[in-house]
Amino acid sequence: MERVQQEDFDQQDRIEVRARGPLEGSVAIGGAKNSVLKLMAACLLAEGTSVIRNVPDIDDVAVMADVLRAMGVSVTRLGDALTIDCPAVITPEAPYALTEQLRASTAVLGPLLAGAGHARVALPGGDDFGPRPIDMHIAALEAIGCRFEISGGDVHATADNLVGSPVLLEFPSVGATENVMMAAVRAKGTTVIDNAAREPEIADLAGFLNHMGGQVSGAGTSTIMVEGVDELHPAEHTAMSDRIEAATFLAALGVAGGEIILRGAQPDHMAMPCRKLGEMGVRTSSDSEGMWAMSNGRLRSADVSTLPYPGLPTDCKPLLVAMLSVAEGVGIVTENLFSGRFRYVDELVRMGADIRTEGHHAVIRGVDRLSGAPVRASDIRAGAALVVAGLAGEGVTVVSDPHHIDRGYEDFAGKLSALGADVCRVGHLTISRGWFSDRFWSPDVRRVRPVD
Ligand code: EPU
Repeated sequence: MERVQQEDFDQQDRIEVRARGPLEGSVAIGGAKNSVLKLMAACLLAEGTSVIRNVPDIDDVAVMADVLRAMGVSVTRLGDALTIDCPAVITPEAPYALTEQLRASTAVLGPLLAGAGHARVALPGGDDFGPRPIDMHIAALEAIGCRFEISGGDVHATADNLVGSPVLLEFPSVGATENVMMAAVRAKGTTVIDNAAREPEIADLAGFLNHMGGQVSGAGTSTIMVEGVDELHPAEHTAMSDRIEAATFLAALGVAGGEIILRGAQPDHMAMPCRKLGEMGVRTSSDSEGMWAMSNGRLRSADVSTLPYPGLPTDCKPLLVAMLSVAEGVGIVTENLFSGRFRYVDELVRMGADIRTEGHHAVIRGVDRLSGAPVRASDIRAGAALVVAGLAGEGVTVVSDPHHIDRGYEDFAGKLSALGADVCRVGHLTISRGWFSDRFWSPDVRRVRPVD
């Protein structure tokens, strides 16, 4: 893309939101971003063609596809299926130009060490949530025989012999659990990962590894056992549904009111968000198509504290803060996972929200109504939360930098407007969606994407 066009894109691309009546109808919940990205990395473990279905058409998936392509892997998309063809010999390197766009690209470390025996992955750096270290990934991989050196901003890793061993994680880190699981699957002997993350995405990845011939048990609990095998083969897998996308539509429903069906949602993965939403006045139940939800009357405040699964996901927090901004009463929100995840609060305050933050805490006094304002998305969930808040705003809320939302949501504005919300995407991306998608999947064009 020429520079002039890129500037036009940045200036014009935005989401406009106005309050309207209640939401109604049904919305399809896509495959889970945070599962698909790791499933894609796991394809590096086997030579040949793997297929992943239920893959959302989002930017983070496109960048992960580029990470794999940079290694010589072919990635093509047909509908919601990705076909990933891994050659016998790959270039086990992930360059900074890609890792800086997608922190989850560090998920290739484990598979590369298991397959190629060495890897060079550029460190992605911090982000809007604060620092995002990978020290626990490194400690866990070292425990099974990998060696690391950091120089020139890159992690250089080698593994002559992976040896199954006990691994005790200092914290149930999602990424560290996944990386060590993907390396241990090819180690000699048994690895027992203790204090493992229990997120459903971990169980989804373990299911895929087992389809590939791996022997992983206990995923979804805090002790995962991985029996190393000599070889893995390509496999097909359907990714689990995105529980955070589902929670986002529930938050929109809470703010706008109405009754909706979330097709394909998996309520068993959403017990804590549903309990919290229930306290606030959003009713949910399982439905033959996924999940039914209803909200009428004013939301009630609740206290919120984020924790690793099965606790309340940190990714839901900005959405709950948007809801609390217009709920009756005072809610106290505590962030326990990421140090800097309150940036979007200033944007909500610009919309008239009454929020005070102190360190890891925010105190939110619900107001009757927000007022529409120009606001800026700073990350995926913050961006979605601002759109949700706009559903309760008087006048128009203009969310700029919606490319952050595109990282994790497929056609967010389109799905909301299909439910009756007054939300529209304005700018080049809407007009040239076909062009964008073509380019999206073109292997030889470097993607143009602002970096967060
Ligand atoms: N941490 C370390 N050292 C490490 C790894 C993590 O200190 O080596 C810290 C982190 O800084 C953070 C905490 O441990 O304070 C939790 O991090 P975790 O490793 O569990 O998170 P992650 O794997 O980096 C995934 C999701 C995030 C989600 C978190 C927590 C993906 C691609 N990302 O990140 O999702 O917030 O788990 O559930 O799976 C999003 O989807 O918008 C998103 C940010």
